[in-house]
Amino acid sequence: MTRILHLTDLHFGFHRSELVGPLSARIEELRPDLVIASGDLTHRGLPAQMRLAQDFLARITAPVMLMPGNHDVPLLNPFARLFWPFAGFREYFGPELTPTADVGETRVFALNSADPYSWQRGLIRRGEIGRVVGGIDPQATNIVALHHPMQQLPGIDKQPARRADEAMRRLQTAGAHIVLSGHLHRWAVDKVLATGAYPRILQIQGGTALCARLSDMRNEFALLVVDGTEVEIQRHISPMQINRFEDPIISTYSRASGPWRRV
Ligand SMILES: [Fe+2]
Ligand SMILES: [Fe+2]
Repeated sequence: MTRILHLTDLHFGFHRSELVGPLSARIEELRPDLVIASGDLTHRGLPAQMRLAQDFLARITAPVMLMPGNHDVPLLNPFARLFWPFAGFREYFGPELTPTADVGETRVFALNSADPYSWQRGLIRRGEIGRVVGGIDPQATNIVALHHPMQQLPGIDKQPARRADEAMRRLQTAGAHIVLSGHLHRWAVDKVLATGAYPRILQIQGGTALCARLSDMRNEFALLVVDGTEVEIQRHISPMQINRFEDPIISTYSRASGPWRRV
């Protein structure tokens, strides 16, 4: 069994500061093998916000995998955003924007979907798709993590990431099993799977772990317990008015017959 904890959209600088302690405590309690934070670590990419995120991440005892979101480029400085968009991220979080890790029975690939030329919209770069396709481990559960979702449900007002369809088609053919994303600040798993668009990839679209925007309704993150062809998803939620995480909502999915189904 491998325990992968997925956090996204921490938005340090516009975060619920009173929830930072409970979030850190719950992460430690869950004893993950790997913690993934899939972008929007900060709200505006400012140095003080980067430091807050850095302090939070440094307290996690498990290995941590990071990748940028659209809020982690210098949003307020167009010159820096165009010419060295990821310099700040690299300074505070290390040089690697697209790390890969073998953790227990999983192989995890980070993609950098932040596009400095576009304010919101993500971009899946062809080279990154090729890197994952070429690196799939046929013996492992292959997990791809990125900031922008690769498929959006009807009614989402943000544009989907460019080249997402092509990426999903190629990833599914190559044998990727799970895609983790954030950005929308809205949890979705079952509704995405029910579209039938990519039945062999379980897309887990995480809500925001710490953003203080009231319309997000809740903060949350997920623990994935991967066991052979099954994955148990534990969704840990803190409603906006309550500064603690409730007992998790648990659901289990299987790919034993190829396509994912909820069991
Ligand atoms: Fe976000
Ligand atoms: Fe975002």
